[in-house]
Amino acid sequence: MTRILRCDPSSISFSHNDAVISSQETSDALQVASHHLVKDRHTVVFPTETVYGLGAVANDAMASAQIFSIKGRPPDNPLIVHVSSEQMLLSLLPPNYILPISYQFLIKHLWPGALTLLFPRDPTKIPDNITAGQPTVAIRMPSHPVARALIAISGLPLAAPSANSSGKPSPTRAEHVLADLNGKVELILDGGFCNVGLESTVVDGLHADGNIRVLRPGGVTVEDIKRVLEQNFGHEATPQVLVHRRDFADRVIEQTPTTPGMKYRHYSPSVPVKLLRRVSNMPSESGAVTPSTLLRNLKSFLTSRVPLKAGLLIPSGSSIVDVLKRDTDIQWHLYAIGPSLTEFAQRLFDGLLTLEKEGVDVILVEEVPEQCEGLAIMNRLNKAADETYWITHPV
Ligand code: TXA
Ligand code: MG
Repeated sequence: MTRILRCDPSSISFSHNDAVISSQETSDALQVASHHLVKDRHTVVFPTETVYGLGAVANDAMASAQIFSIKGRPPDNPLIVHVSSEQMLLSLLPPNYILPISYQFLIKHLWPGALTLLFPRDPTKIPDNITAGQPTVAIRMPSHPVARALIAISGLPLAAPSANSSGKPSPTRAEHVLADLNGKVELILDGGFCNVGLESTVVDGLHADGNIRVLRPGGVTVEDIKRVLEQNFGHEATPQVLVHRRDFADRVIEQTPTTPGMKYRHYSPSVPVKLLRRVSNMPSESGAVTPSTLLRNLKSFLTSRVPLKAGLLIPSGSSIVDVLKRDTDIQWHLYAIGPSLTEFAQRLFDGLLTLEKEGVDVILVEEVPEQCEGLAIMNRLNKAADETYWITHPV
C-alpha cells in the first residue's frame, strides 16, 4: 500500500540551513519520511520545484538500488544527488577540491534551484551504482521547501531521479506519482504542484577550456546561466555556454547514457504524441502537410478508433485549434496551456498525463520557440513525439 502524507510548503522556512516548520502535520510527515529513509533504508517520493523525485540516501548503495528496480531504470543511467546546503555539497567532493570559479558564481546566484552541476566523484563517498560507474557525480540543491527540509532533517544527501516509471513523463503532482507507482512505493509526500514543471538543467563545467556545456536543458535557462556568468566574469574571460546538439556534438557522450535522454525513450505517455511544427522553421519544404492531410493521416493510422479521440496541447490563442476543430468526426479534448513559456513548461507534463488519463487515442502538441524555457520544452517534446508534422497553414 502506498501512503500519502500532506506537507504544506508555506509552513517551512530556513534559519541558516536548518528547517523551521510551523505546521505539526508537515513536521510529522517529514519525520516519518526521514525515518523511512535513514533508519529503514527505504525510498520516499518527495516534491521538488522541478518534478517529484524518488529518493533514497545517496551514500547507501542498497537503498539506492531500490530506485532502479521501482522505476525499471537501466543501471547505466546515473542519478542526481540532492543536497540541502553548500556544506553538504563540499562533504561529498574529493578532499581539498576547489570549485571552478564558474561553479562558484552559478551556485551563488542559481542555487537552490533547477540547476544540476557535474563534479568529480569521490568513490569513498558516492557508491558506484549512483553514478553508473562514471567518474563524475551530478549534484543539485533543490529550492522546494519540502525537498530541502527532508534532506536537512535526514542530515544526508538524497539520490533522486524523477518519480516515474522509466520512459514516462515526469510527475508534477502527487496524483501523477500515485497513478504510475501505486503499490510500488511506500510513501509519497504531497506538497502540491511543482512550480517549474520540467527537470533541472544538467551542466558540465569540468572541461579544461572552462566552458559550460549544457547536457540537458531544463528549468534554469541558458539565458539565466549566461547572464550570471557575464555579470560576474570580466567580459574577456567569460566562459562560453554551449548547448549539446545545438552548439556542440560529442560522439563519446552521445554513445553513453550519461548524456541525459540520449539513449533511452523518454517522456512518452502510452498514447502516441505528434509534434506540429511551422513550415517556416522547416529545413526543406518537401513533406509539409495541411491540417486536413494531417487529420486524414491520423484517421487512416488509427482506423479502429471511431470516433477518434484526439488531445490538443496547444497554447491559448493558437490559430491551429480553430482549423483542426472544424473536423467534427473527431472528439477533441483540449488542454489549454501557456501562453507564456513559463506556464507551458509548468503544465506540459500535466497536460500529457491528463490527456492520457482522459483516454485519448493521440495527442497533438504545437511547437514553441526554442528560447528561454522553450529550449527545454522542445527538448522534451522532440523526445516525447513519435512523429513530427510540418504544417503549412495556419500554424
Ligand atoms: O529536476 C531534476 O533533475 C529531477 C528532480 C527529482 O531533481 N531529477 C531528474 O532525475 O530529472 P533523472 O534521473 O530523471 O534525470 C537525471 C539526468 C539523467 O538523464 C542522467 O543521465 C543525468 O541526469 N546524469 C546524472 N548523473 C550524470 C553524470 N554523472 N553525467 C552526466 N549526466 C548525468
Ligand atoms: Mg527522469
